[in-house]
Amino acid sequence: MSNETLSNLLHEERRFPPSEEFAAHAVAKADLYEQAQADRLGFWDEQARALSWAQPWTQTLDWTNPPFAKWFVGGTLNVAYNCVDRHVEAGNGDRVAIHFEGEPGDTRTLTYAELQREVSKAANALTALGVQAGDRVAIYLPMIPEAIVSMLACARIGAPHSVVFGGFSSSALRSRIEDADARVVITADGGYRRGAPAALKPAVDEAVDGLDAVRSVLVVRRTGQDVAWTDRDVWWHEALEAADDVHEAQPFDAEHPLFILYTSGTTGKPKGILHTSGGYLTQAAYTHRNVFDLRPERDVYWCTADIGWVTGHSYIVYGPLANGATQVIYEGTPDTPHRGRFWEIVQKYGVTQLYTAPTAIRTFMKWGDDIPAEFDLSSLRVLGSVGEPINPEAWVWYRRVIGGDRTPVVDTWWQTETGAMMISPLPGVTAAKPGSAQVALPGIGIDVLDDEGHPVPNGSGGYLVLTEPWPSMLRGIWGDDERYKETYWSRFKGMYFAGDGAKKDEDGDIWLLGRVDDVMNVSGHRLSTTEIESALVSHPKVAEAAVVGATDETTGQAVCAFVILRGDAGYDESQADAVIKELRDHVAHEIGPIAKPRQVMVVAELPKTRSGKIMRRLLRDVAENRQVGDVTTLADSTVMDLIKQGLSTGK
Ligand code: WT7
Repeated sequence: MSNETLSNLLHEERRFPPSEEFAAHAVAKADLYEQAQADRLGFWDEQARALSWAQPWTQTLDWTNPPFAKWFVGGTLNVAYNCVDRHVEAGNGDRVAIHFEGEPGDTRTLTYAELQREVSKAANALTALGVQAGDRVAIYLPMIPEAIVSMLACARIGAPHSVVFGGFSSSALRSRIEDADARVVITADGGYRRGAPAALKPAVDEAVDGLDAVRSVLVVRRTGQDVAWTDRDVWWHEALEAADDVHEAQPFDAEHPLFILYTSGTTGKPKGILHTSGGYLTQAAYTHRNVFDLRPERDVYWCTADIGWVTGHSYIVYGPLANGATQVIYEGTPDTPHRGRFWEIVQKYGVTQLYTAPTAIRTFMKWGDDIPAEFDLSSLRVLGSVGEPINPEAWVWYRRVIGGDRTPVVDTWWQTETGAMMISPLPGVTAAKPGSAQVALPGIGIDVLDDEGHPVPNGSGGYLVLTEPWPSMLRGIWGDDERYKETYWSRFKGMYFAGDGAKKDEDGDIWLLGRVDDVMNVSGHRLSTTEIESALVSHPKVAEAAVVGATDETTGQAVCAFVILRGDAGYDESQADAVIKELRDHVAHEIGPIAKPRQVMVVAELPKTRSGKIMRRLLRDVAENRQVGDVTTLADSTVMDLIKQGLSTGK
């Protein structure tokens, strides 16, 4: 983010205090901060007691072997029981858990009692396939109820799931299956995307080819399209039909692994972020209830994320279901079959809380106020934002046009690694500032440090850190303790380094400024520059590649790639368009369509320091059409002129 944007941000004077009426009935009260301040661990004990435990814990936090935390030591619980059965036992079996809206307009409703039967059948079916506690199960599904059922069935039998976003390619899926050593893969024939069935099963077939450790592939029939079949494939509906709809959930240790979720880091290899049970569920449920002002008996909550991302894990599956919420899930894209689809869904189900990403909000803004104006959005009470910094204009638009100038907007900062929200206003308590995530949630410790590790004063910027262990923190990187310590705990002693830049304003409120490492944020999705560079270099025509994230009005950042072609690629300018297309498609094939570069620029040289490090800062200047910055540390200071000349003449 440029300094100019930054100072504009910090001069944001608009304030939106909660209405008296909202504050009077709010779930979250201001005294949460004082309680947590007075006794942080006691505060988390109290939040954990909102769950049902088979065995109570004897110690809240064991931090004797940092950075490896244990929360609620000695406690046992079953996560799926907490998300499903206990609501049925409490007499809420008839409450709708899921209103499913398929992209083609088909719908399905599951009550908590129905969800209990489905999850029990799936748990029995997985057990029948030989899945035992501790075995990993990979899930590669569209946004259909079976995705939630699968995750809960895994949780129920203590088999950690590894959900892989359906937009990832077969090779990305394969490397995740291999890294987690998954025994079973759950997938579907396909899903609906932009008005047409999009196949999933062929990618799985390719991904598991030759992987003998994968014993079975469970296939949900969603689109009815033809699928190739092998001995290890099993139809989901046949496996579930054969299974009993009663399943006795066994409790597991609070630290039993619940899931692995892969995310991009600064190196080429995605990290398997490991989350466990008791602390994770405690914080997911607590934040979901307080930040969304949840009243499960009458609210209809909707998070538009995909379960392939952590937002889907914590705020579609675990948080809302642990709280007994009624929610909407939607399979498709916001513009299918028309640009009012989201608002049509809000109106149809009377959605009360909406949780979406700035990139979507900016797209809706671009489409114009007239579209949401055609629908009745008066049911909305709280609007949430997540995934990247939200610019004040988008924030104000969201509140005014979608929230009828009435609803609180909560900008929630967190990460795959944090498992649940960490920084956010509380609706009914915090006077909101558009563009700022503002304050640490009660029970969470944060700070902003300078290069030397000193807290910066108000009015200054630096690196965001988390100063205290928190219940839903990652417990490590799957199979790589060293990388866990090195990535998060070595930059500042005793503190978790988030990888984000942040600034404290004059009131001490936090403004997130984007990543400070080689991680890009495209439409709220985390992508690694190195990972895309490796994908490009794996193409036979490419000798070298450098990737940068350039500011983009809609997607936040966009992937821009600079490539040097091999001498023997036989390239001449007349083929530029074809080669560029080939390289963009290659990245989509290697990683997935979300990683496809917006631009590929063929260059003769890349700007490097004398020690050979690529100076991405200069490439970002080119990609953003700016005056190129200081080139004095380049090994060859004429390189940038060459690049700029080459691009302007199309070379
Ligand atoms: C990165 C984490 C949190 C779930 C979705 C993304 C950025 C996330 C915000 C926000 C500014 C944000 C950060 C963070 N980010 N939320 N409200 N304001 N930036 O999870 O893929 O693990 O990405 O997303 O840069 O480090 P993720």
